[in-house]
Amino acid sequence: MKALDTETSVPGDWLEDTRRFWNTDSDSEAKYRRICLDPEIESTTDEGELAALWHKRTEAELAQLLSGIPIQADWTCLEIGCGLGRLMKPIAQQCARVIGIDVSPRMVEFAGEYLRGVPNTEVHLNDGQTIPMVPDASIDWVYSHLAFQHLTLYEVVDRYLAEIHRVLKPGGYCRIQCWREAALPLAERAKNVVRLLTGRERYHGPRRWLWGPGKEVKFGGVTFHPKAWRKLLASHGLRVISLQLGLGHDHWMWTTSRKR
Ligand SMILES: C[S@@+](CC[C@H](N)C(=O)[O-])C[C@H]1O[C@@H](n2cnc3c(N)ncnc32)[C@H](O)[C@@H]1O
Repeated sequence: MKALDTETSVPGDWLEDTRRFWNTDSDSEAKYRRICLDPEIESTTDEGELAALWHKRTEAELAQLLSGIPIQADWTCLEIGCGLGRLMKPIAQQCARVIGIDVSPRMVEFAGEYLRGVPNTEVHLNDGQTIPMVPDASIDWVYSHLAFQHLTLYEVVDRYLAEIHRVLKPGGYCRIQCWREAALPLAERAKNVVRLLTGRERYHGPRRWLWGPGKEVKFGGVTFHPKAWRKLLASHGLRVISLQLGLGHDHWMWTTSRKR
């Protein structure tokens, strides 16, 4: 049996496994092997082409992220799983302050470089499930893109939602992209049914499932049926105002909710 972290009930090796996967040797590996990864990016090693693809994808995903969010110049925003700060950089031009948190020491280090000269941004290393550096009711908008789909434990998703509710101002916005259940192979779907029935799932180490035809992902996270996801958000006091399936990717699910 795996040792449990007594404070959080998350297995002790979970944080180590998570960091091992996300810590990369170089910022280029972080960018093109962990953050932006698709057949087009994989088909080239030309730095100029890679940079152009990085910007093209960032622009498209930024539009998905901002869809329906009435961002204001005086807002403080928070990104969960910010990586290099790819999305924080353009968002910082539209608001007063952007805080990023990330579980990976290497990502936080690379973000320091990527966000150099963007004074209204800051990035913090966290424990992968809580945000103690952010005070209660201090955030206008929490967002997360390409991070929840990699959270390998239901407990961690649950804890983040509780944290999001804590840090948001009343009426504050939350926009999260995650992976919807229908995309999964049958065995993984069956596990999700068990999880739904029991409310919890055991940690078996990094999970592997098919991302697309013939493509194995080694750090696939828990997935949600839209109804279960809506219910979970509501149980944390987050009222869903929009749920979009297939925006940006067939298997993505985007939700915007507001703190009651
Ligand atoms: C695919 S990258 C996306 C980065 C950024 N959101 C973007 O779109 O450019 C996923 C990021 O989530 C971070 N991450 C993974 N699990 C996390 C966790 N439990 N808590 C905080 N960050 C996490 C990783 O270290 C990585 O930087």
